[in-house]
Amino acid sequence: HFMQKEIYEQPVVVADTLQSYIRPLEMQVAMPQMDFDLSEVERVVIVACGTASYVGMIGKYWIEQMARLPVDGDVASEFRYRDPVLTGKVLGVVVSQSGETADTLAALRHMKANGVTTAGIINVPTSSMAREVDLLLPTHAGPEIGVASTKAFTCQLAVMAALSVNLARAKGKMTAEQEREIVGHLKEAPAAMNAALSHDDEIQKMAHTIAEARDVLYLGRGPCYPLALEGALKLKEISYIHAEGYAAGEMKHGPIALIEPSMSIVVLNSKGRVSDKVRSNIEQVRARGGRVIAIG
Ligand code: BG6
Repeated sequence: HFMQKEIYEQPVVVADTLQSYIRPLEMQVAMPQMDFDLSEVERVVIVACGTASYVGMIGKYWIEQMARLPVDGDVASEFRYRDPVLTGKVLGVVVSQSGETADTLAALRHMKANGVTTAGIINVPTSSMAREVDLLLPTHAGPEIGVASTKAFTCQLAVMAALSVNLARAKGKMTAEQEREIVGHLKEAPAAMNAALSHDDEIQKMAHTIAEARDVLYLGRGPCYPLALEGALKLKEISYIHAEGYAAGEMKHGPIALIEPSMSIVVLNSKGRVSDKVRSNIEQVRARGGRVIAIG
């Protein structure tokens, strides 16, 4: 299957993508030449569809945390019809593998018509969006044939990380030392992805467990919350099992009532300040007999 092939291409294409956003000697991230000043940006608006929209949600966590800039993330189909407020120095970012998705292209044109400076994290450099943005931030995932976005998604995240660091530096919120540390982690990403992709056996076992479920709940906090939404989207669009992504901290306000032994709950937990809270969410689920698959 193309999708399986593209899943396993990720470490290589993420490394290829990062190469054009990292200065290895200075241990700095780099942006293509642009004819506007990132330090003047007062707000960021990120618009996309489907899997790409979760890159926008993760970008909100990163840009607000690192650059201390307010970020609005929205799905393109909502954005273009809700008369968004675009006053002030806004950087409008579209994220798209194809660069042709109609809702995202229309949202880009809406932002440009409102005087917004636009950037695009796009995989097809000859696409409409690539031609129309003020700043093209290409991903180098190569052609993505699978309908469900996989390697394009992780390459988009790599570019979003570089953009976040660049905005933080431009706003004077990131020291050279902090940047070196982040660049160090970015350089480790391809190897870490290889390690994650070497869990075939465990994943095969998990698949059999989930395949019988009627409903699957994906939980995460912080940047793992949009990842939980992405995991649920993938299960729905690939295996036609109903799945829902939820903020782990929000589960007790409703979905916890659904938990019973026939339900699988996938919990994403990365190291960080909320990982203890996610662990207690896992205990809450197990106390109700839910089958937990923890990824972290
Ligand atoms: C959907 C695909 O149709 O379009 C998703 O199933 C994709 O995988 C979404 O994320 C957006 O497409 P693009 O090309 O704008 O990233």
